[in-house]
Amino acid sequence: MKLHSAWLAFVTLPFLRVFAVPAPSHHDCAHVVKERVEPPRNWVPLGPAPADHILELRIGLPQPNFHLLEEALYQVSDPYHDRYGVHYSKEAVEEMVAPHPTSVTAVEEWLETYGIGESDLTRSSAGDWVKIRVPIALAEEMLHTTYSIWAHTLDGDLVVRTTSYSLPQYLHPHIELIQPTTMFARLKGMKSTLHWPDHDEEVTYFSQAKAVPTLTQALGSIQVDPSCTQTITLSCLRQLYNATGYNSSATNGNVLGITGYLEQYLNIQDLQQFYALYRPDAVNSTFAYVSINGGQNSQNISEAGPEADLDSQYAWGLTYPTGGIFYSTGGSPPINLSAHTPTNTNEPYAEWIDYVLNQTNPPQTISTSYGDDEQTVPQSYAVRVCNDLAQLGARGVSLLFSSGDFGVGDGNPNPANQTCLTNDGRNLTRFIPDFPASCPFVTTVGGTIGVPETAVFFSGGGFSNYFPRPSYQDSAVTGYLSKLPPGLYEGLYNPNGRAYPDVSALAYNFSIVNQGKLGKIGGTSASGPTFAAIVSLLNDARLSSGLPVLGFLNPLLYTKGIAGLTDITMGHNPGCGTQGFNATTGWDPVTGLGTPNFGMLKDIILSTT
Ligand SMILES: *[C@@H]1O[C@H](CO)[C@@H](O)[C@H](O)[C@H]1NC(C)=O
Ligand SMILES: *[C@@H]1O[C@H](CO)[C@@H](O)[C@H](O)[C@H]1NC(C)=O
Ligand SMILES: *[C@@H]1O[C@H](CO)[C@@H](O)[C@H](O)[C@H]1NC(C)=O
Ligand SMILES: *[C@@H]1O[C@H](CO)[C@@H](O)[C@H](O)[C@H]1NC(C)=O
Ligand SMILES: *[C@@H]1O[C@H](CO)[C@@H](O)[C@H](O)[C@H]1NC(C)=O
Ligand SMILES: *[C@@H]1O[C@H](CO)[C@@H](O)[C@H](O)[C@H]1NC(C)=O
Ligand SMILES: *[C@@H]1O[C@H](CO)[C@@H](O)[C@H](O)[C@H]1NC(C)=O
Ligand SMILES: *[C@@H]1O[C@H](CO)[C@@H](O)[C@H](O)[C@H]1NC(C)=O
Ligand SMILES: *[C@@H]1O[C@H](CO)[C@@H](O)[C@H](O)[C@H]1NC(C)=O
Ligand SMILES: *[C@@H]1O[C@H](CO)[C@@H](O)[C@H](O)[C@H]1NC(C)=O
Repeated sequence: MKLHSAWLAFVTLPFLRVFAVPAPSHHDCAHVVKERVEPPRNWVPLGPAPADHILELRIGLPQPNFHLLEEALYQVSDPYHDRYGVHYSKEAVEEMVAPHPTSVTAVEEWLETYGIGESDLTRSSAGDWVKIRVPIALAEEMLHTTYSIWAHTLDGDLVVRTTSYSLPQYLHPHIELIQPTTMFARLKGMKSTLHWPDHDEEVTYFSQAKAVPTLTQALGSIQVDPSCTQTITLSCLRQLYNATGYNSSATNGNVLGITGYLEQYLNIQDLQQFYALYRPDAVNSTFAYVSINGGQNSQNISEAGPEADLDSQYAWGLTYPTGGIFYSTGGSPPINLSAHTPTNTNEPYAEWIDYVLNQTNPPQTISTSYGDDEQTVPQSYAVRVCNDLAQLGARGVSLLFSSGDFGVGDGNPNPANQTCLTNDGRNLTRFIPDFPASCPFVTTVGGTIGVPETAVFFSGGGFSNYFPRPSYQDSAVTGYLSKLPPGLYEGLYNPNGRAYPDVSALAYNFSIVNQGKLGKIGGTSASGPTFAAIVSLLNDARLSSGLPVLGFLNPLLYTKGIAGLTDITMGHNPGCGTQGFNATTGWDPVTGLGTPNFGMLKDIILSTT
């Protein structure tokens, strides 16, 4: 069925009344480009996508009341507001993000013209996403586009994508975005955020860095085992972050969730071996393994993922006996072009969000060590995913994300290869921020090195090109910007963008067990779960005192929280052929506000009601 002949029949009067659009004329049927992107760097089209390959399309309907959700989120997260901690239920949040019924109808009727009925679609719990499975040929007809197979020139990954798509004009107000179309991001984990320590790199860095403070200068009354200057273990972190001796509860309902993607399997034998070495009382403890979108749970020791092992060993090792959930979310490149059922392409991230938003009681704290260059995610999609994360905040979930491992640079693991060019067709040199690290509704964790701590050279940090600076960080960030040498890096970053990281934690020489062997690993993949563990312990203290959990952390961290964070003032995060930003007194785009002092944060949050 052809669209042009069909849609006039279903534009009903209520639609016209609500949106006061003129009566449809033939002209209105015309498809108008909804989104166009430049062919992204490092991707080349190989040829047309097979017409019968099945795509799962996600259609995002506008959330006309999102501003109410945002307002609600900031109220319940602001420690000076009356409604602090009065989080919203699943139903209340869903009501605030629900699409307008007119949009729901318009989309349903549009789909019906292609024979796609109610039984062929699935909806997110709030009804704001509609998913359909269609052959490429039909998707091309619906979106007036042509899909191609694209290959990544560096690793050969294949995806089916297009660089633009169109929708009938009258549908534009009813559909915010459709993916996969223009989205080329791959939300990397292990490749981008795991950093196997390279001693030469470290020596070079320290020889260029300013003098490192002595142990006693930096740590004051904190006592840390001398071995921690070489190897980080659970006890080093507990000592350094003033959490020694705190016992969390096994029974207050507190849960620390960890996300896993890209076939990163959490190996239970590795976890037990790690516990036996560093947390003997946790030996034989269990956690919940949740599979989403076909995510597997391989316990084959040769498939034990270093990312998943690192995240779980540190997050749960620090918080035992707090409950744990591991989310194994399937769906990652390469796409299987001979399979006629979708392997559910390359947006496992959205699948995870659908799942967790549909839970009545999601974990109070969730750690994610995956991300990708912000510019590889179309802005419309980044905004939508970020807004979905705001829903979790309003419901009282604290979300922690690693800030990335390439300083101010792009995701190229070889700094010499970092071109830092924009994807917008102009090939401008720019610092390259990371997403979701740049989302203002999450807490982003940068990295430090050594005891005492300085900023680690790879700590991802900078300024979003998509999200404006949220007011909670105005004073911290303008304070930093005013100290930058005038004109330095002008044009390389967006001084009005959401700045990150918010906080930091150690990110180097963590001792882990992977594939049965003890080794050292690093990356902001280590700092994210570490900070998440501290937050989970704080939530534990809140729950055990009968207080609501912390939820979205940033409005607290940038105010009362500062007194419970240790400012990191040395080091920098090179990239793009520059020295990057410097860690300084106060907030900086390398280590944020600093590293946690659990004891002091606990006193702050227990007196905040
Ligand atoms: C949400 O969860 C309910 C209950 O488990 C289930 O029936 C429903 O299909 C889920 N909805 C989505 C969108 O996942
Ligand atoms: C990291 O580990 C290496 C190798 O064991 C050691 O030489 C180095 O001093 C350690 N550095 C830090 C900062 O822990
Ligand atoms: C924590 O538990 C240990 C072992 O049971 C106990 O020795 C210690 O006193 C407890 N600490 C606190 C602060 O209750
Ligand atoms: C853990 O479980 C194993 C197997 O059931 C058992 O042999 C071992 O004694 C247990 N260890 C502890 C510390 O409970
Ligand atoms: C375990 O995984 C490795 C690597 O993927 C594979 O070669 C091996 O066959 C697997 N072993 C079993 C028993 O499945
Ligand atoms: C791709 O799909 C085909 C058909 O379902 C299947 O036979 C093949 O094993 C799949 N290949 C991979 C690498 O999964
Ligand atoms: C990256 O750098 C390495 C070593 O300097 C070089 O061998 C490789 O070809 C470079 N890759 C790209 C894509 O430039
Ligand atoms: C940008 O770079 C790409 C690939 O390196 C090149 O094909 C393109 O012509 C460049 N565009 C401009 C405007 O320089
Ligand atoms: C960082 O500090 C160095 C040395 O003090 C200084 O030369 C440089 O301009 C500073 N860079 C930034 C981005 O502030
Ligand atoms: C550790 O936290 C306690 C509060 O629980 C605080 O009294 C103490 O001063 C902190 N220690 C340091 C060295 O910051």
